[in-house]
Amino acid sequence: MTRVAVIGAGPSGLAALRAFQSAKKKGAKIPEVVCFEKQDDWGGLWKYTWRTGLDEYGEPVHCSMYRYLWSNGPKECLEFADYTFEEHFGKPIPSYPPRAVLWDYIVGRVKKAGVRKWIRFNTPVRMVDYDKKKKKFSVTSHDRVKDVMKTEEFDYVICASGHFSTPITPFFTGLDSFNGRVLHAHDFRDALEFKGKDILIVGRSYSAEDIGSQCWKYGAKSVTTTYRSKPMGFKWPKNFEERPLLQKLEGKTAYFKDGTTKDVDAVILCTGYQHYFPYLPEDLRLKTANRLWPENLYKGVVWQDNPRFFYIGMQDQFYTFNMFDAQAWYVRDIILGRIKLPKTDAMQKDWKKWLKREKKLADAEQMIWFQGDYVKELIDATDYPSFDIEGVNKTFMVWEHHKMDDIMGFRNNAYKSLMTGTMSPKHHTPWKDALDDSLEAYLATK
Ligand SMILES: Cc1cc2nc3c(=O)[nH]c(=O)nc-3n(C[C@H](O)[C@H](O)[C@H](O)COP(=O)(O)OP(=O)(O)OC[C@H]3O[C@@H](n4cnc5c(N)ncnc54)[C@H](O)[C@@H]3O)c2cc1C
Ligand SMILES: NC(=O)c1ccc[n+]([C@@H]2O[C@H](COP(=O)([O-])OP(=O)(O)OC[C@H]3O[C@@H](n4cnc5c(N)ncnc54)[C@H](OP(=O)(O)O)[C@@H]3O)[C@@H](O)[C@H]2O)c1
Repeated sequence: MTRVAVIGAGPSGLAALRAFQSAKKKGAKIPEVVCFEKQDDWGGLWKYTWRTGLDEYGEPVHCSMYRYLWSNGPKECLEFADYTFEEHFGKPIPSYPPRAVLWDYIVGRVKKAGVRKWIRFNTPVRMVDYDKKKKKFSVTSHDRVKDVMKTEEFDYVICASGHFSTPITPFFTGLDSFNGRVLHAHDFRDALEFKGKDILIVGRSYSAEDIGSQCWKYGAKSVTTTYRSKPMGFKWPKNFEERPLLQKLEGKTAYFKDGTTKDVDAVILCTGYQHYFPYLPEDLRLKTANRLWPENLYKGVVWQDNPRFFYIGMQDQFYTFNMFDAQAWYVRDIILGRIKLPKTDAMQKDWKKWLKREKKLADAEQMIWFQGDYVKELIDATDYPSFDIEGVNKTFMVWEHHKMDDIMGFRNNAYKSLMTGTMSPKHHTPWKDALDDSLEAYLATK
């Protein structure tokens, strides 16, 4: 029997499981699917843990999420086309759910699909190898509970192990003698740690914006962010400011490129993540920065030099859950023989065309339309339920304007579902006053 290995049971890996289960439900004969998951439960980054550094088995902790994290984009833009929020929660809910609510939604679909039995938890993949003659992969995994390593053969491998877990940690002069706490966003867990403190945040992207906003919300004395390329440019509250790049630290004093200084108690590096696949050999390993079009991937998923090996979710992300679905359905259909792959040079020509377009993108709005076009192309090729991509793009545009208008208030807005047409209700409490991020508090009517 044909065997497929899926590495990771986060939203991307779960999309792959759901794709195969959905084909089976419609009567297709599907391969045996085995999903290897390093953590003890599913949901990927959305599965919160208090742990940082190494887990109970000595594995690097995967989670980069933190307490009180709310969705940073409207849920209407990430909604599954085959499992709506309304179906899951039994009623319309507001547009920016906290982490626990989104985790519940992600796992609700796969619970219903009954695919948990396909997953081996606490089982990181240690090595993947390809035998050209046999046309088989050998996948070595490590059952951490029994402490047993095992090597098995597979016909196809889908790599869905995520790329927001291994930090990029630049050095700044004086960090090693700084008289305060230094951490990367990956290890940030609870903004209350920084209540009453002066915080310095390095970076200008989503982690910088959100961790800065969280620290502000939970009572930091001041938040200073420092940027390399350009400021975020939002209308920040009065104890929140942006400065050009940090040059050095002396004691607790930070020196910036414009000659100004600021005394700070903690430095949080919101400097992004590496695509890191220590278990993959050279000839299968994707090497890329965090971008919308990683190279060598036909249709963003097929590893050009070995089209039996696939990646899901490796792009920088405006679109998330429904893009992973589009990719998973596409990969499934290649494996099921429903989509025929062209020759290598044609595959290369195709992804290079996307790459050329990606390089010309000038701003976030163009990036959103680009990713929307990509999702549409994949969805049109499979039986994944079609949905209003243009509507999703337009919702993203409104979201961007809401952020520019009020960075601490944009999460108070509500949007219409592109899947059901239902207008979402406004949340009962403004985001800045909603200190309880539990599922129960969020779903309560008051
Ligand atoms: C702080 C933060 C906040 C975010 N907030 C949002 C948001 O609000 N909205 C949104 O849409 N997106 C958000 N994202 C983007 C996020 O990338 C996606 O939502 C989603 O989690 C990506 O899913 P994934 O399955 O590709 O990767 P992940 O969620 O990272 O899952 C990968 C899985 O692979 C497993 N794994 C890793 N290595 C191995 C191995 N060797 N063997 C076996 N298993 C392995 C991991 O344990 C994990 O379960 C956020 C990301 C971060 C870092
Ligand atoms: N739900 C939420 O609210 C939430 C919260 C946090 C993160 N996220 C998600 O997490 C993902 C990752 O976001 P991210 O912000 O961690 O990573 P990212 O988007 O890749 O951004 C990395 C940032 O690090 C900066 N940087 C890198 N090296 C630097 C250096 N040497 N000096 C100064 N700055 C440096 C970059 O600066 P330049 O731009 O100048 O190059 C960039 O601003 C995104 O998908 C995001 O949506 C979501």
